[in-house]
Formats: sequence, C-alpha cells, structure tokens
Amino acid sequence: MIKTRLTEMFGIETPLVMGGMTGVGYAPLVAAVANAGALGFITAHHSQSAEELHAEIKRCKDLTDKPFGVNLTLLPSLNPIPYDEYRQAIIESGIKIVETAGRAPVDHLPAFKEAGVKVIHKCTSVRHSVSAVKYGCDVISIDGFECAGHPGEDDIGLIVLLPATVDAVAPVPVIASGGMADGRSLAAALALGADGVNMGTRFMATQECAIHDNVKRKIVENTERDTLLTNRTLRNTSRVARNAISEEVVKIQQDPTKTIDDVRHLVAGVRGRKNVLGEGDTDGGIWTVGQAQGLIHDIPTCKDMVAAIMRQAEDVLAKNAQRLGAPA
Ligand SMILES: Cc1cc2nc3c(=O)[nH]c(=O)nc-3n(C[C@H](O)[C@H](O)[C@H](O)COP(=O)(O)O)c2cc1C
Repeated sequence: MIKTRLTEMFGIETPLVMGGMTGVGYAPLVAAVANAGALGFITAHHSQSAEELHAEIKRCKDLTDKPFGVNLTLLPSLNPIPYDEYRQAIIESGIKIVETAGRAPVDHLPAFKEAGVKVIHKCTSVRHSVSAVKYGCDVISIDGFECAGHPGEDDIGLIVLLPATVDAVAPVPVIASGGMADGRSLAAALALGADGVNMGTRFMATQECAIHDNVKRKIVENTERDTLLTNRTLRNTSRVARNAISEEVVKIQQDPTKTIDDVRHLVAGVRGRKNVLGEGDTDGGIWTVGQAQGLIHDIPTCKDMVAAIMRQAEDVLAKNAQRLGAPA
C-alpha cells in the first residue's frame, strides 16, 4: 500500500488522479475512477449552467460513494462561461476537491476556503506554482512538456520541472502530471518528490471512457512520436494527436503572420469532439492526447488499470531497493 500526503488529504486509496478532460471527463468515467480507488474530476464546462453541473455531480454521486472532484478550467472564451455559478453549484453539492487550470483561481479561493473545499491548481511552470501557493492553493499539479493539452510555452520536461516545483513550493504537496502512464511513472514521480500522479491520456484508453473505440485503438497503436504542437505562433500551444488535420494546421502556422482565423475551421473543438471522439474518424478533427500514448498497450477497465499501476509501482520500488542494496 503506497500512502502519501495526497491519499491522506483526500481520503483516497491510491495517489492516482485523473484530471479534467474536455469531451471525456463525464460522470460515468469519473465514478469508475473513484470506484477504482483513484481521484477523478468532472469537467465543469461541459455543463451549460449551474443546474446542469448540479445534475452531473448528482449523476456521479449515484454511481459512487468515493471522493471525486470537479475541474474548473479558467480560460478566456468567446462565449462567457458561468464560473461563479459553477463555483456555487460545486459548494452546494458538497464537493470538497476542485482542480483548477488556466489562470490562477484567485477570485474563487475565498469562497472555496470558507466551504472547506481543497484546491489543486494545475499549471506548467515553477513561477505559476509559486504564485498559486501564495494565493492559497492547497496542492500543485505540475504539467510537464510531455502532457496532453496545454503544456505552456517553456518546453520543460517533467524530469526537471517536477523536482524544481517540489523544491519551490515545499511543503505544499505536488502531483506529477504529463507523460505518466504506468507504475514505473508513479515510482519515478515519488522518487522525485511528488505525492501523486495525474494522468489524462492513460484514462482515455479504458473500457469506461465513453469516447469511440477507434480513438482508444489509435492511442494503443500510436507511439510517443505521434503528437504535434499546434498554435505555437499564437502562444497558446496545444499538444494533440498527429493526424491529417493537425499536420495541416502546423503547415499553415509555419507562416508566423497567420492568425487564429486562418485555422479556426480546422482546430474547432466541436469538430474534434463530434467527428473524432463521437464518431471515431481519427482524421476528422483535432483531438487532444499526450506523449504517454507511447506507453499505452491495452484498454483495461479502470479498476484493473489502477490495480496494475499500483502493483507495478510497489514492485519497482521493492526491486530497486533490493537491486541498489538499500534495506527493503
Ligand atoms: C482529451 C483531453 C482533454 C483535456 N481537457 C482538459 C481540460 O478541459 N482542462 C484541463 O485542465 N486539462 C485538460 N486536459 C489535461 C489533463 O487533465 C491532464 O492534465 C493531462 O492529460 C496530463 O497529461 P497526460 O495526458 O500525459 O497524462 C485534457 C487532456 C486530454 C487528454
């Protein structure tokens, strides 16, 4: 049994986290993750209103008695997002764990603190981690350059970013995120000072994830080389699957004068969610995935996967202790 400050703080059986995922993080998957002993997050912005978020949280509670949380991704958007209403719904529903990402959750922290909600802020740099802790966030989830989605603009791999963050925010607990896929990842992250690991890509390739089977099979088939970085020139980098559409976007963006309007029809999130995640056409739009896909070779249930990760981590830690002569 691996116990860390994360398992203690959140009353979870394992130090494994599934972060919020647009188009993926719905109640049935989050409940399966919770029932497997890990900590999953419902993605708030799937809901159009506080009422819808209330209903999604209830749907999850009907499927599990274990702890789970809600992800608030605080990004600028063309259509205003009802963040204050989401916050209210989270508090009223009795949720005690929130994962924030994007900008620091400064406006939301006082209400969360008052309601006893712990906030994990996910970010991509040491400096943003330090600010988030200064604002009062309880845990930092640090996303390395390997990660799916938004790795930021610094291009620092997790092997440097994680211990640098652990040192900078001590004694605040840190979760290792980006490129984490198995028990070896967990053992390595613990060795680098993390109290847990966050995985997105790995949880996409599970039985309970409601995306199309073609996408899961593509993740198994793809190697670590099959991602691309789009929107670099717009300073809004995204790590996505390498496919016909992302290759076209990268080609267009080789011309630094091109703006979002030149690629909007290609990168539209709704296109990826409908054509790829919904209908299984893996070349039908942009879809988010990380380098960790190179380590994914199966599509297990969440329960089997979490158990296998924990078994492997314990095995690696014990064998290394033996191999390297330290007391087991
Ligand atoms: C399909 C997909 C959608 C994602 N959407 C979000 C999101 O809406 N908000 C967020 O904070 N993180 C999002 N992420 C990032 C994950 O929560 C997590 O930080 C990341 O996947 C970790 O890297 P990994 O994929 O290498 O495990 C997404 C990841 C994936 C794979």
